[in-house]
Amino acid sequence: MSYKDQVDLQKLPRHIAVIMDGNGRWAKGKGKLRVFGHHNGVLSVRDVVEGAGELGIQYLTLYTFSAENWNRPKLEVTAIMELLISTLNKEIAKLMKNNVRLNAIGDLDKLPGKCHRELLGAIEKTSGNTGLVLTLALSYGSRDEIVHAARQLAQKVRDGLIQPHEIDEQMFEDNLYTAGIPNPELLIRTSGEYRISNYLLWQIAYAELYFTDKLWPDFRREDLFEAILDYQKRERRFGKTSEQVN
Ligand code: FPP
Repeated sequence: MSYKDQVDLQKLPRHIAVIMDGNGRWAKGKGKLRVFGHHNGVLSVRDVVEGAGELGIQYLTLYTFSAENWNRPKLEVTAIMELLISTLNKEIAKLMKNNVRLNAIGDLDKLPGKCHRELLGAIEKTSGNTGLVLTLALSYGSRDEIVHAARQLAQKVRDGLIQPHEIDEQMFEDNLYTAGIPNPELLIRTSGEYRISNYLLWQIAYAELYFTDKLWPDFRREDLFEAILDYQKRERRFGKTSEQVN
């Protein structure tokens, strides 16, 4: 029986977040340039997005470019930005057909102008879609996001719109880039690294973590289904005892 057939559709995580890691090593292993890995990484993105849609996952958030990734060699940064533009252009029709709503989180103003415009265009075009919400984390850093939220709240206090004592967890969440998106129940990281790397720190407070040695370009929908199966076998207690949740 395939992994997909074993998935319990009644117990799906609503939101899956992914740290797509290992493109560079995948390419190197084949004696190619890192960019070759990113190109093949896009094929995994496409397959995993389709797989998530097939199951009826509501939210998928992909760590596509971190705030720290700006420090990579200029040529690689440019290649990833170009890849983003060409992928958006190539995939937009399919996103429409599959009813996928595109979204982005991060310090998007830092993106090159063309990339920013294409991205906002694609987000606008898919804004009426009602299926999977596909969020790309771009120029994203979680600490930066938290500082940004704190600044917004401080400004609202200064403008007299809110009182400090009114700030609670919900209001804080509403000021994160992910406002309106439920917190991920499952976080997947590929490539055998056991780190969070400044990704959705607030949002993953109760997420189940799933690590696989597979490099991102080798990770396909079957691997996603396997991760979901693993998640479904776990008991989520939220600080309660086993007896309380069963
Ligand atoms: C991690 O591998 C991957 C990235 C930093 C870039 C991810 C980008 C893509 C998959 C392509 C663009 C995506 C879309 C949605 C158009 P790495 O380079 O850190 O690999 P390494 O750890 O082996 O060096």
